[in-house]
Amino acid sequence: MLNKYKKILLVDDDENLNKVISFQLNQMGFDVTTATDGTSASNLFKHGSFDIVITDLQLPGMTGMELLTSIRRLDKNVIILIITAFGTVENAIEASQLGADDYITKPFGKETLRFVIEKTIQLRKLQAENVQLRSELYQKYDFGNLIGKSSVMEDVLKLTSKVAESDATVLIEGESGTGKELIARAIHYNSSRKEKSFITVNCPSIPENLIESELFGHVKGAFTGALKDRKGKFQLADHGTIFLDEIGDLKEDLQARLLRVLQEKEFEQVGDSNPIKVDVRVVAATNKNLELLVQDGKFREDLYYRLNVVTIILPPLRERKDDIPFLVDHFLIKHGKDKNYTITDEALNIIMQYDWPGNVRELENTIERAVVISRELVITPELLQPIWRSIKKKVALPPEIEEEDHLTLKEIERRAIINALNRSNGNQTKAAKLLNIPRHVLIYRMKKLGLR
Ligand SMILES: Nc1ncnc2c1ncn2[C@@H]1O[C@H](COP(=O)(O)OP(=O)(O)OP(=O)(O)O)[C@@H](O)[C@H]1O
Ligand SMILES: [Mg+2]
Repeated sequence: MLNKYKKILLVDDDENLNKVISFQLNQMGFDVTTATDGTSASNLFKHGSFDIVITDLQLPGMTGMELLTSIRRLDKNVIILIITAFGTVENAIEASQLGADDYITKPFGKETLRFVIEKTIQLRKLQAENVQLRSELYQKYDFGNLIGKSSVMEDVLKLTSKVAESDATVLIEGESGTGKELIARAIHYNSSRKEKSFITVNCPSIPENLIESELFGHVKGAFTGALKDRKGKFQLADHGTIFLDEIGDLKEDLQARLLRVLQEKEFEQVGDSNPIKVDVRVVAATNKNLELLVQDGKFREDLYYRLNVVTIILPPLRERKDDIPFLVDHFLIKHGKDKNYTITDEALNIIMQYDWPGNVRELENTIERAVVISRELVITPELLQPIWRSIKKKVALPPEIEEEDHLTLKEIERRAIINALNRSNGNQTKAAKLLNIPRHVLIYRMKKLGLR
């Protein structure tokens, strides 16, 4: 258990006592270096790498207190235990106020010494584990797993990290599957509220008669079935973030109540007229165009402006295809577990051509499915059903020249022109060059064939 904490610097002006304690510590398996005054202890500490410092408070030269402060400044993590005369330090709180982890009162025996050291090390380990767990949680939602290499997404991520620092209300707009929830979480877990709750409210999924109590809570007896007091999501999110998903679907009377919460940061529980104050950061998302809903009278204009302090617009995936290869890699790793999946150029090409109406979510599902059904560690086009079929259909739109025998001259000409225009991206001068005819002839032919 003591493995990581091995090297001890022991500081006491009483040389005999140093010898006794050293001996005991050696028996417990520690490496001990001793010093009898503050200055030499400080020098030893600077040049060695100690895990634990045990020091008397009364020392010649530099006092124990000065030593403690200078060591803490050099190393925040080293364990410091102080040896005190009876009555100098009354409890652990006082010791920690001095910058030490704990204290031992003189005179003490070997068992007390062991107990205090082991207890402190254990506490340290728990704290380290806790930090580790938290940082894993943050990593899950920080920018590490948010892919955005295209220039539009780089802008989105910059804006996201900027608003995360503030307390501003944020409205996230984007088609289904574009990553709105991921952005909302990134905002929370990169804000000063990250240690508090991130509470999601999926507006359309809550039954209409329950949504008020769901958001604001109720008191016992407020309605049939309200058997005891219940906190609402706004209370649960106090000091944290509330994520109002699909806000465009919120009914009108609730829009009014929400407006009040945003304006006054207070509300009443169902069945109670006492206002409750909360400190909640609001992030809302919608796949609808709220501005249009406002124009149609379906969303309150004043609420829209309250929500729309900062708007983050997530472009559909088809408008940021540069992200696709990176997302594919990301999902191959995410769903391929520890295996090393790759994708063929042909398969990636198909993915690049597809329109992705379901955006990143559809891409993720497609890759996950391909990984599950693949027999080898390579993703090939066949594994990309059903998008493969849809792409094939598209490519085949002017039907393949299978029935070449039946083609009329006019049809062949039409195809040749379409082909040339496609290859020149619609540039008629270039297309004419490809066809080896003058531009005015091309235009004339196009007119005749009814091509625009
Ligand atoms: N930029 C991204 N990088 C990595 N993964 C992403 C990205 N955007 C979205 N995803 C993934 O795609 C899936 C859908 O994302 P999310 O749920 O955030 O979308 P949404 O916009 O809230 O969708 P909906 O409107 O359907 O609720 C999630 O699994 C998410 O992890
Ligand atoms: Mg969502």
